[in-house]
This record gives sequence, C-alpha cells and structure tokens, in this order.
Amino acid sequence: MKRYQNIFAIIAFIVTIIHSTADAGNRWKGKWYFSKKCSFCHSVSLRQESEETGPHIRHVIGREVAARTDTQYSSHLLLLKEHGVRWTPDLLRQFISKRDGSWFDYYRKKFLKNKCVSYQTSMRHPECAPYTTHNKGRRVSTRDLEDIISYLKAFK
Ligand code: HEC
Repeated sequence: MKRYQNIFAIIAFIVTIIHSTADAGNRWKGKWYFSKKCSFCHSVSLRQESEETGPHIRHVIGREVAARTDTQYSSHLLLLKEHGVRWTPDLLRQFISKRDGSWFDYYRKKFLKNKCVSYQTSMRHPECAPYTTHNKGRRVSTRDLEDIISYLKAFK
C-alpha cells in the first residue's frame, strides 16, 4: 500500500508541474515582446517618466482600471474605473486582442444598460460610441500576448 502511495504522490507532483506550465506565458520572452509592441507608449521602469504617451503600467495587473492621475484616459476606461473594475489577465487579454473594441460591449451593457439605445441618452454618454483609443498599437499574436501578460504579472 505504501508503494502505491508513493506512486500516487509522484503522479500528483508531475500533474501539478504540467498544469502550472500549461498555458502560462514566458515572461522573459514577454519582456522582449513588450519592448517591441508596448514600450513605444508605455513604461514599466521604476523611475516613472512623465513624458510617456500611455499610462505607466508597472503594476497594472490587479490595479484599478484608469488609476493613474498623470494620464488622460478615455471616457470608456473612466467608466470602468467608476465601477471599480480592475485589470485581470483576462481583461487585458481581451483589451489587447479585440482591436475592434468589442471587449467593451459587455461593460457597456452592464453599466449603461439601455442608455445607448435612445439617441437623447446616448448623446450624454460618449462610452456608447465604439472604443477605439487603444487600437493604434501593433498587432500582438495570442502567444506573444500570453508572454507579455506573464511579464506584467511578474511585477506584482
Ligand atoms: C500607440 C501607443 C500605445 C501602444 C503601442 C500601446 N498602448 Fe496601451 N495605452 C495607450 C494609451 C493612450 C492608453 C490609454 C487608453 C484609454 O484611455 O482608453 C493605454 C492604456 C493601456 C492600459 C490601461 C492602463 C490603465 O492605467 O488602466 C493597459 C493595461 C495597456 N495600455 C497595455 C498595453 C500593452 C500590454 C501594450 C502592448 C501590447 C500596449 N498597451 C501598447 C497607448 C498605447
């Protein structure tokens, strides 16, 4: 019986290792992709340079959306901030990969309900318009994005 216990322990150990590395990105590669695709506008340096185009994103995972006071955010991101939404790996995945802005549809429905349906109320909510602020950067493949996310996670 003891022998079986050991075998089970070894199998469990192997399964845990495989599981933990399964779809996790490589943060060292992520550092490289970040420098190619994101650092043009964003910095993750310890010293926060104020002349960046985009917000400083060193500790962005887990951080409230649109948290920086030195950035002028779009009204879309400010709406998420108002409702206390935080950056999770999944939100970041959608934000970067759905360049047509469709990632925002869910939040538009959730927070604005039917305000975008009538012309009068939608005029008062710029977030009813499609989200286009972040579609100017370079395209990132799904794999490279996983690497970038694990790079950004590593700062936590
Ligand atoms: C062309 C410049 C540019 C590039 C390239 C760019 N971004 Fe951005 N980024 C911005 C701007 C501007 C904002 C503010 C967007 C808004 O207010 O809607 C932003 C916002 C963000 C935010 C939200 C930060 C916060 O404080 O809530 C994250 C996260 C982010 N970008 C990640 C990335 C990643 C990851 C990449 C690379 C794959 C990237 N960005 C490439 C300009 C850029």
